[in-house]
Amino acid sequence: MAKNVVVVGMAWGDEGKGKIVDLLAEKASAVVRFQGGHNAGHTLVVNNVKQILHLIPSGILHEHVQCYIGNGVVVSPSALLDEIKQLEEHGINVRARLSVSHACPIVLPSHIALDQAREAKSGDRKIGTTGRGIGPAYEDKAARRSIRIGDLYQWDDAKERIVDLFAYHNFLLQHYYEVEPVDVEETLADFARFAVEMRPLVKDTLAAVHGHRERGENVLFEGAQGAMLDVDLGTFPYVTSSSTSAGGVCTGTGFGPRYIDEVVGVTKAYATRVGEGAFPTELQDETGKYFAEKGNEFGATTGRERRCGWLDAVALKHAVHMNSVSTMCLTKLDVLDSLEKIRICSAYEFSNGQAFRGEFGERSLRAIEPKYEELDGWMESTEDIVDVGELPEEAIKFVHRVEDLLEVPVGIVSTGANRAATIVRDDTIFN
Ligand code: IMP
Repeated sequence: MAKNVVVVGMAWGDEGKGKIVDLLAEKASAVVRFQGGHNAGHTLVVNNVKQILHLIPSGILHEHVQCYIGNGVVVSPSALLDEIKQLEEHGINVRARLSVSHACPIVLPSHIALDQAREAKSGDRKIGTTGRGIGPAYEDKAARRSIRIGDLYQWDDAKERIVDLFAYHNFLLQHYYEVEPVDVEETLADFARFAVEMRPLVKDTLAAVHGHRERGENVLFEGAQGAMLDVDLGTFPYVTSSSTSAGGVCTGTGFGPRYIDEVVGVTKAYATRVGEGAFPTELQDETGKYFAEKGNEFGATTGRERRCGWLDAVALKHAVHMNSVSTMCLTKLDVLDSLEKIRICSAYEFSNGQAFRGEFGERSLRAIEPKYEELDGWMESTEDIVDVGELPEEAIKFVHRVEDLLEVPVGIVSTGANRAATIVRDDTIFN
């Protein structure tokens, strides 16, 4: 029976969702993005060639897959067109298989300028954003003044609204942030061109995605960032500005909750975070450095070094609840290969003895102490293992312990960057 499956990150992003979506896309007819924008960076390695996708769904490398950018995604036309061009240079026929919702709010150059100016002015309180204008673009959506993709096709009206919006943005840039304004004439000229180039891609994605469901085809929804960066449920205010959890699918594509069959939660076998904000299991020692080096923990979008730490089962349990995760994927297991002892955070405690009550905001997470369990490492290579029977006993124990703590089965284990380096313990996700 066909299924509608959501793939989400369970932590602070960079869990390896791109690889899992690419893998599951083999059996899907459609892959749909529902939130975020070009702040995301999904790294895929196919036949040893690395591709980094920011806006285009990770299903694009499969010729049989239709890709959709749903209304919940904020779209920078220039980033989108650049990415299409890059993929086309690799011989991938993007335009025949990509559709963009007319209801996507546009990321304007002034949003990018505002994001960067705000971060620069915030000093110690900066969020550590990707500087892609994502926050200001979502603010304008909530304030009901966004220019949406479909608006570009009523150009005279869109032009007027862009001019008005720039007047407001430039006022803030010049008089509040005291930086240079953004040239509206240049933006108008660019956008007139972008509108023409994007015209064939702009569709009623809502109807098209439901069409796949009605024809009994598998549909995959691809999350960006991760649960702990969710604007409502993450480590607020150090979060992104969208609903990164499975609920975002419903509002970000118009696909109601009863149509969703499975939610696949992806986590690394350890934890990472880019940008500022609380990170209870962070390691600022040799082990942290080991994770960064062995795991090649540098941001796919900004190149920033990621902060690294132990797997945090308390935060992951929060992600299980908010997403209703039915199956987990554990990625980068091989990064743990050389560790003698492996820790898992299984509880939080306040120093004053008060119980942790599930408040995952910044203030609360700064005040807790992580409590760890220690497991024996396996001290041998698991890289590129594809058969669960070949995993060392201690590695299997680690996987089982994660399952016990989170009360969700681990259906997929990833043992390397390549598509092939994957152990599929449960092949029923799409059956
Ligand atoms: P923004 O999404 O650019 O506003 O950044 C807000 C926070 O989300 C920052 O901590 C970023 O580092 C983080 N973030 C945004 N996109 C990603 C991603 O794709 N992976 C990991 N972190 C991200």
